[in-house]
Amino acid sequence: MLKKIAISAVAALTLSAGGALAAGGGEQHIEDIAFSFEGPFGKFDQMQLQRGLQVYTEVCSACHGLKYVPIRTLADEGGPQLPEDQVRAYAAEMSIYDADLDDDRPRTPADKFPESGLETAPDLSLMAKARAGFHGPEGTGINQLVRGMGGAEYIYSILTGYTGKEKEQAGTTFYENTAFPGGWISMAPPLAGEDVEYADGHSTSLHHEAEDVSAFLMWAAEPKMMDRQHSGFVAVLFLTLLSVLLYLTNKRLWAPVKRAAKEAAKEA
Ligand code: HEC
Repeated sequence: MLKKIAISAVAALTLSAGGALAAGGGEQHIEDIAFSFEGPFGKFDQMQLQRGLQVYTEVCSACHGLKYVPIRTLADEGGPQLPEDQVRAYAAEMSIYDADLDDDRPRTPADKFPESGLETAPDLSLMAKARAGFHGPEGTGINQLVRGMGGAEYIYSILTGYTGKEKEQAGTTFYENTAFPGGWISMAPPLAGEDVEYADGHSTSLHHEAEDVSAFLMWAAEPKMMDRQHSGFVAVLFLTLLSVLLYLTNKRLWAPVKRAAKEAAKEA
């Protein structure tokens, strides 16, 4: 179930690591989504990543780039895991300037995604990590361990947080958005629902499209998140076991000394 979380600007100011949300003026509403990749046993959902890639390609890439993401990673296990020939075909759809040829050529999987086509649209490669949607209770970080940082939730909330109100300022149109710090964003609502047609027949409601593209952008920003979460979990287990063993070893090592001390006390 979706739980609504309201983070007050004050809380954001005091708790936000690196001031990610510190620019906030109004109240921000970040929707909590139970993404498949959250928690110690979480995993990216391959089909969801493929759908998210489609939304990114058909909608977001008109303005936003992913310039740090190598195209070949689309074939990686744990990611969208597209077949190699599809990755090659996908890459070839996008051109790149090649200084050696002094001309444009089609991209190959070894190239990265293009940069933002629209100057004012930020690159999305690391967006899901740059923005933390929520923090632990009183900033302890416990929530983050269980629910993640909320970067994907933040993107989801931006995409679904438009109120429909607009205003003009210095020649730019701003759209009221309940998730964006300050409450007004210059990005027109990019999704309305039914913006794409999914091959797997999944729902293309606004909420589903927003979830899919947010999951995809989380993967783009942190493709190895699963490995990290799993090894973190194993490390905690291992350290717990080690502590128990050390405690027992310690008791056993000192037992003869304690016994001797007790006997000495009795004799005296
Ligand atoms: C028509 C161009 C355009 C399209 C299409 C577009 N965006 Fe944007 N986007 C922008 C601009 C411009 C900004 C900067 C807005 C601002 O800072 O006020 C932006 C900002 C953002 C932000 C940053 C919010 C922040 O915290 O800085 C996110 C996240 C985002 N877009 C996601 C998306 C996603 C996901 C899609 C595809 C579903 C998308 N955008 C489609 C133009 C676009």
